Amino acid sequence: MERGTRSRRICSLPSPSNWCERVKEWQPPPVLATLAAILLAVSACQYGTRQSAPAPAPEPAPGPPSRADEPNTMDGVYTVAQAERGLQVFNRICAECHLREDWTEPAFLARWEELSVFRLWYWIYERMPHGNPGSLTREQVTDALTYIFQLNGLPPGARELGTDDDSIDDYWIIWPEAGDRPGPDVLIREES
Ligand code: HEC
Repeated sequence: MERGTRSRRICSLPSPSNWCERVKEWQPPPVLATLAAILLAVSACQYGTRQSAPAPAPEPAPGPPSRADEPNTMDGVYTVAQAERGLQVFNRICAECHLREDWTEPAFLARWEELSVFRLWYWIYERMPHGNPGSLTREQVTDALTYIFQLNGLPPGARELGTDDDSIDDYWIIWPEAGDRPGPDVLIREES
């Protein structure tokens, strides 16, 4: 046990005791952490109550269950054909303003990580293309989003990502580890 802690406990006892004086006389070694502990002990003596003692460090709260354990984008939630259609949407509409890099950069990935797929879907649906929001069909938004998934190396699967709210909302966004992301240079293809 650390010296400061023991002194504080003894000083808090209701019976008369000279331990508090000893703590006050004791010269702390020139170590900041120890000094801080001694100062806390002395203040505990002055007020004589346990309340002035520092609260014990709280146990780290058990975090929420990881979203990686729930249905998420690592589960193969779109098809290759769908991402190909998304590439066409990108070339025809998004590329006017966006680079592929916009959707593979760490800041973008961090912003959406562990949010629901629906949240990103809806963000695009409601706000893009900038200056002409509401002009994209649900299919275009879903396809463009799966292209973003493909750019980041998310595995394709056997079923397309849906276009109705419920099925889009089934998944959390989890990105692959940095080493498993191909980066923006993958699948560079001009419109045929
Ligand atoms: C006319 C220009 C323009 C077009 C076309 C456009 N965007 Fe955007 N987009 C922007 C601008 C500007 C922003 C950032 C400003 C904002 O937050 O509204 C943005 C932001 C975004 C973001 C948010 C990125 C982030 O950092 O979180 C996504 C996703 C996105 N666009 C997707 C698309 C998709 C998909 C298309 C094509 C279907 C598209 N955009 C077409 C201008 C455009």
